[in-house]
Amino acid sequence: MSSNDKVETLRWVGNADGHLVLIDQTLLPVEFREIDCHSIEQVWEAIKQLRVRGAPAIGIAAAYGVCIGIRDAADEAALLAQLSRSTAYLATSRPTAVNLFWALDRMKAKAESLAGQPISVVQATLLDEAKSIHEEDRAMCHAIGKHGATLLRDGQGVLTHCNAGGLATAEYGTALSVFFTAQDEGKHLRVFVGETRPLLQGARLTAWELCRRNIDATLICDSMAAQVMREGKIQAVITGADRIAANGDSANKIGTYSIAVLARAHNIPFYIAAPSSTFDLAIADGSAIPIEERSSEEITHGFGRQTAPADVKVYNPAFDVTPAEYIRAIITEQGLIQPVSVANIRQVLGHAT
Ligand code: MRU
Repeated sequence: MSSNDKVETLRWVGNADGHLVLIDQTLLPVEFREIDCHSIEQVWEAIKQLRVRGAPAIGIAAAYGVCIGIRDAADEAALLAQLSRSTAYLATSRPTAVNLFWALDRMKAKAESLAGQPISVVQATLLDEAKSIHEEDRAMCHAIGKHGATLLRDGQGVLTHCNAGGLATAEYGTALSVFFTAQDEGKHLRVFVGETRPLLQGARLTAWELCRRNIDATLICDSMAAQVMREGKIQAVITGADRIAANGDSANKIGTYSIAVLARAHNIPFYIAAPSSTFDLAIADGSAIPIEERSSEEITHGFGRQTAPADVKVYNPAFDVTPAEYIRAIITEQGLIQPVSVANIRQVLGHAT
């Protein structure tokens, strides 16, 4: 694969009786392999095991998963039962990224609007809906890049965490879309990438994407962020988000909150880049965001090798919440939310009361 080859994080093959193809992100950067998902259990497993990951990509995969879940229905009653079972089942795969629940709700609402239609029409229309979710995400990521690039200047050093790139979305990414757009505009950035313990999404995925795009990328351990900031190498931090509450509190990969605090201590602006599908305006603040806890083996046996005593107690929250007060602006496809406040969020997202 050359660095110009387009990478498709996920794609649907065939008509309503087709299947989903995903890049198995657990194998990157060593191996590029796609997997075929013909059953809803395979989609659930792929989300759970982070073969497909990143908030928007999880939502898109789940929408296609619903199409697989209703594929074999023989009549309307069976289809409705399968729809309800499929959406409930996929909702148990991961708890934090709201895009998953947003996409499942959208698929359910579309199905309800088709009551009484022949099931072949419902199946085809739900596939169209999943494809719309997919295509809209591509467009939103593009727009986020354009808005976000206005914040960056030629020659700046920027830090990102986890992977908010094309692999986490339909294409381009959110935080990485900002870097890609800035580069397309002729700005040379020096991007620092936190490796993102314990699963190394920064090292394995973000570094891979940046290198493929010939962006000046430097990998650091998560614990090095303060030192790199003190050395004056970072002028802005941009990360993605998995769920943003009505007041702007933002959940993202574990370690994001500490970076935001460090950015504040060094007077460096900290930005979140996220599409409107990542906002959960039903919750007032970040205290209501469910934080996924993952297995202790991710810490004690990272990538197959034991690195801690087998009987040590482990705590492994996969996300943390950065309070809105640490976020200089949220970059959305609708524009910048700055300053981050309940009123500005509603206004920019078009929910002004
Ligand atoms: O556990 P992951 O890899 O799914 O976590 C992903 C992140 O935290 C991303 O930063 C977030 O989903 C934004 S992706 C555009």
